[in-house]
Amino acid sequence: MKDFIGKTVFLTGGSSGIGLATAKLLATEGANVVIFARSEEKLAAASAAIESRRVSAAQRFACRPLDVADHAAVTAVMAEAVQSFGAPDLLINNVGRAVPHCFEDVTFAQFDETMKTNLYGAWSTVSALVPHMKARGGAIVNVSSMAGFIGVFGYTDYCASKFAVVGLSEALRQELRRYGISVSVLCPPDTDTPGLANEDLTKPAETKAVSAGAKLLQPDDVARALLKGIRRGTFMIVPGGEGKLAYLMKRYAPAVVDGIVRRGIRKAQQGTAGAGTDGAGKPRGAR
Ligand SMILES: NC(=O)c1ccc[n+]([C@@H]2O[C@H](COP(=O)([O-])OP(=O)(O)OC[C@H]3O[C@@H](n4cnc5c(N)ncnc54)[C@H](OP(=O)(O)O)[C@@H]3O)[C@@H](O)[C@H]2O)c1
Repeated sequence: MKDFIGKTVFLTGGSSGIGLATAKLLATEGANVVIFARSEEKLAAASAAIESRRVSAAQRFACRPLDVADHAAVTAVMAEAVQSFGAPDLLINNVGRAVPHCFEDVTFAQFDETMKTNLYGAWSTVSALVPHMKARGGAIVNVSSMAGFIGVFGYTDYCASKFAVVGLSEALRQELRRYGISVSVLCPPDTDTPGLANEDLTKPAETKAVSAGAKLLQPDDVARALLKGIRRGTFMIVPGGEGKLAYLMKRYAPAVVDGIVRRGIRKAQQGTAGAGTDGAGKPRGAR
């Protein structure tokens, strides 16, 4: 996909953070954009912001309330969206949730919700739309994370879901090529979004120590990297210089990455602040 003029984009999680920045950028690139998320209030505000970036009167914008963790709802809402706007040229599965806690504090209910949202949500959306996209081809981007290729302290359920999103994308890429559908996966590092601000509320001290000093990207940086990756047909899109370096090091020198991470964790555990507590300062296992 070399440009986005007149292309129809379905983007889940388009009312906040990376998704909203991407939807706005796509609007300035001439795309028709349909966003999906749960809160109708946030959708309405986001839609107005996206529409204000239009560059042509012919562009169409819409939003649909949807919980991607609900497979039946995804099937029904996507069928209606295809009827209204046609099959998308580009599908971006951007929805994701993370509630960092040490493993012993992660309940089964939390694990289940994370998997249903981050993994099953992407699966359901792809399975609802591929039958419609097959005739014309197009592109699919699933949003994973740097925690989709590096195991991160405090993110056991999230890492499990995001590693799985990378696997799903790699296998899909092989299968969908025959229909002219390209598949990519976006793996952002920490990005300044409402989602990350929420994560900071419960992050264990070790998680904070490991990511301390890393460059925080802005959602617009990630959106630009995403569109550039789609234009180039890149499979693994890792925004930012530090992210790319981490990806290469994890691939070619995993012991070095492990050593750096272990040093950060040890430092936090030896310090007094936060050691032995979860991110909210409660003793671990206190929930
Ligand atoms: N920010 C980071 O540092 C970072 C780093 C790496 C990867 N990522 C990934 O990038 C993606 C976007 O992250 P973000 O930080 O921009 O998130 P965010 O600011 O929390 O926005 C999340 C969006 O997804 C929607 N959403 C959440 N749960 C949903 C559900 N079950 N069904 C439908 N919509 C849902 C939200 O709206 P409603 O709540 O109204 O539904 C919102 O529009 C996620 O996949 C995340 O894992 C983020």
